Amino acid sequence: MSASHASTAKKPATATNNLEPFWMPFSANRQFKQHPRMLVAAEGMHYTTDDGRKVLDATAGLWCCNLGHAHPKIVAAVQKQVQELDYAPAFQMGHPKAFELASRLALLMPGSLDHVFFTNSGSESVDTALKIALAYHNVRGQAGRTRLIGRERGYHGVGFGGISVGGLSNNRKFFGALLTGIDHLPHTHNLAENGYSKGLPKWGAHLADDLERIVALHGAETIAAVIVEPIAGSTGVLLPPQGYLKKLREICTKHDILLIFDEVITAFGRTGNAATAAEVFDVQPDIITMAKGLTAGTIPMGAVAVDKKIYDAFMKGPENAIELFHGYTYSGHPVAAAAGLAALDAYQDDNLFDRTRELEPYWQDAVHGLKGLPHIIDLRNIGLIGAIEMEGIPGKPTARAFEAFLKCFEKGLLIRTTGDTIALSPPLIISKQQIDEIFDTLSTVIKGLA
Ligand SMILES: Cc1ncc(COP(=O)(O)O)c(C=O)c1O
Repeated sequence: MSASHASTAKKPATATNNLEPFWMPFSANRQFKQHPRMLVAAEGMHYTTDDGRKVLDATAGLWCCNLGHAHPKIVAAVQKQVQELDYAPAFQMGHPKAFELASRLALLMPGSLDHVFFTNSGSESVDTALKIALAYHNVRGQAGRTRLIGRERGYHGVGFGGISVGGLSNNRKFFGALLTGIDHLPHTHNLAENGYSKGLPKWGAHLADDLERIVALHGAETIAAVIVEPIAGSTGVLLPPQGYLKKLREICTKHDILLIFDEVITAFGRTGNAATAAEVFDVQPDIITMAKGLTAGTIPMGAVAVDKKIYDAFMKGPENAIELFHGYTYSGHPVAAAAGLAALDAYQDDNLFDRTRELEPYWQDAVHGLKGLPHIIDLRNIGLIGAIEMEGIPGKPTARAFEAFLKCFEKGLLIRTTGDTIALSPPLIISKQQIDEIFDTLSTVIKGLA
């Protein structure tokens, strides 16, 4: 056989724990494999590394472990569930905990968002929401509404739907033509107008008016939905200008366009004293996508909450016919549902959504206490979210923030960087002393950056 042909010959036995085969997601694989950063255990606010060091988690894993790590209620619920009912078919069959979780979520969601579709991730939640939006218009006789509108710098996961409405160039440009019929609103980030804002920035509500331009261009009768993150997270934490989301809502309502809030990182207490950013910002979307904090990161699970009018629109045909041709083998998986129920109990019993609101002023002071340190060009915050934007090294974008990430990790602090911005989103159980620890370490590290 010529060398260019793939071979199925058995590979020689090598070390059992070779770092090479795992193609790591959204990672610098070669850098990591030369300098691995391994986490082997976690409890409460801390990870433990393979060399036995404790690392303070300032990112709730990836914005998901809102309850900290190894919450006893979730651990017990998962252990019990896996023994009792490990799996149940998700199509044409049910198990009680999926219905119970949907009922609990329906109560937690704002307004008339009272039906829930389960997925396994944020990306699946987004693609599910977009498909539901398209199908909703279709089943009510408006099949011409096929256009979807996202926003520049938006992140909606990595499915083809999500990257099409998303607005991060690197996440799109390698992957072909993507979905057609997509437009993007302008992003809302403007340091000249809104630098060092505390909470929601004042300038920029008018940027929502761009939706009217898109409607005028294509005709409202061609547009199915607008999807935005209430707070754009992955692009470096961009907060919505005051009044911006309300304006989007008004324009969507005027033109019968569905408004989808992607709350994959903002739901479950991250922004304040309610489960969703929709409530905190007092804007009612038609669909909310969730994941992450739903099970506090313990078991993969996502969900899409839809307005009653959307669910009802599908419930019209013969009663024994499938209404929506969409779903996943693991939609509402019993172990994930058990983890979700336990997480909702824990949020409630420990009053964690209120706790975010209580800690917010302390957190805000800590974030803005970094003002004046070298390289910093903006600081912003809301709820238990903080962002430190640094000037990039000329010709080496992202290098300065990545250096900060590595140095923090050496000093026992896990942060997350995106571009040259450090994004902070600690578990909601964080103490004031741990907030101090985060900013002391950050201050030392930032002062020492090249
Ligand atoms: C707003 C938003 N949507 C979707 C996703 C994708 O979620 P997942 O990685 O679970 O697919 C993310 C992940 O960070 C997110 O922040």
